[in-house]
Amino acid sequence: PTIYLLNGPNLNLLGKRQPEIYGSETLEDVERLCRAALPEGWDLRALQSNWEGQLIDWIHEARDHAAGIVINPGAFTHTSVAILDALNAYEGPVIEIHISNVHKRESFRHHSYVSLRADGVIAGLGIEGYVAGVRRVCSTR
Ligand code: DQA
Repeated sequence: PTIYLLNGPNLNLLGKRQPEIYGSETLEDVERLCRAALPEGWDLRALQSNWEGQLIDWIHEARDHAAGIVINPGAFTHTSVAILDALNAYEGPVIEIHISNVHKRESFRHHSYVSLRADGVIAGLGIEGYVAGVRRVCSTR
């Protein structure tokens, strides 16, 4: 089985962008840690885009190819009904990840459209949250 690890806008800059909030580790570090957490026989498809439509296309692709989705939608978390709708068309487990504790930040980050669909939400654990998300998908299948 394959887990789709989806990262949204600006997360390509992880490690360089606001390290006081998001830390100094990169998206490659995230991918490496998640791969290391996979049980035997599991695979990871790690994808990042700054484009909402690209993320939606990957979520559609996941319908036929993914045993679960671990997604950090970045700022689209707080704006995108379209990403929510795409996730609602996906039947497997969905775990929403935020590196920072969004609830400790500006009030516009307190609401998530994606949380209306997510089976679990992890915020504020840094990049460890992704690993917990991957573990959770593996243990629920
Ligand atoms: C984020 C939190 C969002 O509010 C923000 O727009 C991001 C990253 C996080 O991982 O903490 O881009 O999803």
